[in-house]
Amino acid sequence: MNEVINTMSMQIPAKSENESFARAVVAAFCVGLNPTIDEISDIKTAISEAVTNCVVHAYQKRQSNDDMITIECQLYADKLEVKISDHGVGIPDIPQAMEPFYTTEPDNERSGMGFTVMQSFMDTISVNNQVGGGTVVTMQKVFTKENKQVSGE
Ligand SMILES: Nc1ncnc2c1ncn2[C@@H]1O[C@H](COP(=O)(O)OP(=O)(O)O)[C@@H](O)[C@H]1O
Ligand SMILES: [Mg+2]
Repeated sequence: MNEVINTMSMQIPAKSENESFARAVVAAFCVGLNPTIDEISDIKTAISEAVTNCVVHAYQKRQSNDDMITIECQLYADKLEVKISDHGVGIPDIPQAMEPFYTTEPDNERSGMGFTVMQSFMDTISVNNQVGGGTVVTMQKVFTKENKQVSGE
């Protein structure tokens, strides 16, 4: 059950138009496991929040081709693990940043609920400092048993 059955890794510039691209790619990567519509929608929402944070916070909306986001996926028989990393400004106090409604951009449209949304839509989330500066967000989504393919194909 703990065997990795597929992997994927991509790098994209931290631009807002890449948010929808990234979430579609990660969703497509999981399709072989027969996820439910709800599970796919949860994953898309979490990816959007994480990528948006890279664009808005890590690279402070520079929208430059030089500011990269790395997305790495590992697919297991029953779950997805996805790691979203940037080399941006980093988060000085991670537990505080993860609190509901905490935001360093209160003047704008940010609600401070991004990490809370990721936490509630995914099964696990951990946030760490990136080696060399920046942030790594690692999340897992477990797929429900009912959807497993029963045939041997
Ligand atoms: N990748 C990141 N790089 C730097 N800071 C981040 C990153 N992701 C989140 N943060 C910090 O954590 C705070 C909380 O993030 P979040 O819960 O998504 O709320 P919001 O994006 O609405 O501010 C942000 O305001 C920001 O200060
Ligand atoms: Mg956010």
